[in-house]
Amino acid sequence: MKKITSVLFALGLSVFLGTSAQAANDDAAVIERIKPVGSVCIEGDSSCGGAAAAPAATGGSRSGEEVYNTKCAACHATGAAGAPKYATSDWAERGAKGLGTLMENAINGLNAMPPRGLCADCSDKEIRNAIKHMVNSAK
Ligand code: HEC
Repeated sequence: MKKITSVLFALGLSVFLGTSAQAANDDAAVIERIKPVGSVCIEGDSSCGGAAAAPAATGGSRSGEEVYNTKCAACHATGAAGAPKYATSDWAERGAKGLGTLMENAINGLNAMPPRGLCADCSDKEIRNAIKHMVNSAK
């Protein structure tokens, strides 16, 4: 009796495993069927891959001052929306976090700070240059 039970159990288990493997395949098929026809990517977004990510990949090298003046000053010159203000003690406080943290938050965004400070065509290097420019302005 004991043997029969375990055979039945093994049989049941393999049916169960077989079914769930089948279910996983079905899921993949469903996901493939219902996936969006197209996806939107913003210029310079690294998730786009290929040509769209070119500006970041080629590592453009505008100076920190140029990037700051053209891209970051809109908020950072005035302290709009709580942005750390250029040439004030704001940047001494932020600088204490270390460049790595500042880079991460500038690239991913932080509260009202939009990802990459809205500079879609800024390379990581250019973002870093701009951050250094602002941190160095600290009074
Ligand atoms: C639309 C307004 C806006 C623009 C444009 C903008 N920032 Fe910001 N930024 C903010 C605000 C607001 C904060 C404060 C976020 C907070 O601490 O809540 C901030 C904070 C930061 C910080 C500090 C992050 C931290 O960890 O404390 C860095 C670094 C930064 N910005 C870099 C940049 C750079 C570089 C640019 C230009 C490429 C830029 N920002 C453009 C609004 C902006």
